Amino acid sequence: MASRENWGSKLGVILAVAGSAVGLGNFLRFPVQAAKNGGGAFMIPYFTAFLLLGIPLMWIEWTIGRFGGGFGHGTAPGIFHSLWRKNRFIKYFGVIGIFGPIVIFIYYTYIESWLLGYSFFSLSGKYTGITSEEGMIAFLQGYQGIVRNEHFSGIETAYIFFFITFWLNILVVLFGIRRGIERICRVALPTLLVLALVIMVRVLTLKPVMNPLWTPGSGLGFLWNPDFSALKDAKVWLAAAGQIFFTLSVGIGVIMTYASYLRKNDDILLSGLTAASTNEFAEVIIGGSIIIPAAFIFFGPAGIERVAEQGSFDLGFVTMPLILKTFPAGNMFGFFWFFLLFLAGLTSSISLAQPAIAFLEDEFSISRKKAVSIFAVTCFVLTHLAIFSLAKGVVDELDFWGGTFALVVFATVETILFGWVFGIDRAWEEMHSGADIKIPRVFKFIIKYITPLFLVFILGFWTYQQAIPTLMLKGVPKQNVPYVIMTRLVMLIMFLTISFLVKKAWEKNKCVQVD
Ligand code: ALA
Repeated sequence: MASRENWGSKLGVILAVAGSAVGLGNFLRFPVQAAKNGGGAFMIPYFTAFLLLGIPLMWIEWTIGRFGGGFGHGTAPGIFHSLWRKNRFIKYFGVIGIFGPIVIFIYYTYIESWLLGYSFFSLSGKYTGITSEEGMIAFLQGYQGIVRNEHFSGIETAYIFFFITFWLNILVVLFGIRRGIERICRVALPTLLVLALVIMVRVLTLKPVMNPLWTPGSGLGFLWNPDFSALKDAKVWLAAAGQIFFTLSVGIGVIMTYASYLRKNDDILLSGLTAASTNEFAEVIIGGSIIIPAAFIFFGPAGIERVAEQGSFDLGFVTMPLILKTFPAGNMFGFFWFFLLFLAGLTSSISLAQPAIAFLEDEFSISRKKAVSIFAVTCFVLTHLAIFSLAKGVVDELDFWGGTFALVVFATVETILFGWVFGIDRAWEEMHSGADIKIPRVFKFIIKYITPLFLVFILGFWTYQQAIPTLMLKGVPKQNVPYVIMTRLVMLIMFLTISFLVKKAWEKNKCVQVD
């Protein structure tokens, strides 16, 4: 077995995992989900999902990642096989844990590149003269190449920023775990948190503008005043669970890959909890105190739900720059906003790149340079699908299958595998090996029964409510149908190719594997 890399320090791995978790989900997706689902009505299901899904899954992924890493496997096919040696098929379920991150990476890096572009535009004052929502929407659409207008004559500018962002990601992963990922997260995560805190303080000290009752405090009240009647609404529970998956990066396959670079006796429980808590601090405390109070001051309680309905991008790229522009030194605040989002995106996207690279390195014993090259060329080609068919529903399709549905399926498989096949007693012992803390025994019960039940409920509901209608192309405009079908074909080919590679790797390594 070739020797694998290790993290440089405990703080390093915590910052890397927290960096993977803290992303666009914290500052854009969370406030939109909260506002769309009635503010205070959202927070009880949200915290319940954090406790019963988020934390257990975080610990499960850290534990099985470290366990599989001990056998030289850094990705789900090998990790699942290490947990259930007698089963020949379980490794194919692990394909989801490589497929999902690649699919997300394809569109995530493109959106991340817009943030780099907008950071520059804030500093250069390119959108300073625009004063209306319509104006900012036209600016965004011009940038995306959807329309030609006085701001942009085509997609060239967006492409340049994409090119820089994409190859920056590749450069970081090329340097490897310790010298690339760990080093960048050590700088980027604290920097983005400081920038976010500066904006948060500025927003919370704003005076009412449109209506004396629309204060930042009432904006916070919108989020924090509980509404128990919403607990009966399954949709709110699904939205909350979906947000927990996305924001903590669990169910994707990336945390287990990061954890596979731990040493045998490195702590899991406290580190996993610290990373999850850092993410929640960034999401609920900071993320919840920027967009919501800022938009509340300008739009009030009714307006905020309307703006949220328009989606994460409108709030982030249209509403926020308009609001920040009204501050003294508005361009600088605009820069802080977009640059912090760019850093948050970067520390997440590098984690999405790592599973595919680790798979090639571990299972085919090729060098990092070669693995990164194969990954880079493949993804660079695939990303063009998102860039040039953005308005055709391609990104939504990738996001639904790769960024939502696959997560729940994957999480269900790993939880059952851990608590039932590997066995909860062994699992508990493995979790506590080298641990700096002991966790309450109630989590043994939660991991074995509650988390899988919760997941099966979500999976059933989602399949019925969303996956089947999505599969049947319900609501897809006619002109988008060929693009959506093409996207599905590409995803299918990707999935089959990874499955084929898994088969080949196992055939090749047969002689060195102990079954
Ligand atoms: N966890 C990452 C985010 O929140 C993917 O954006």
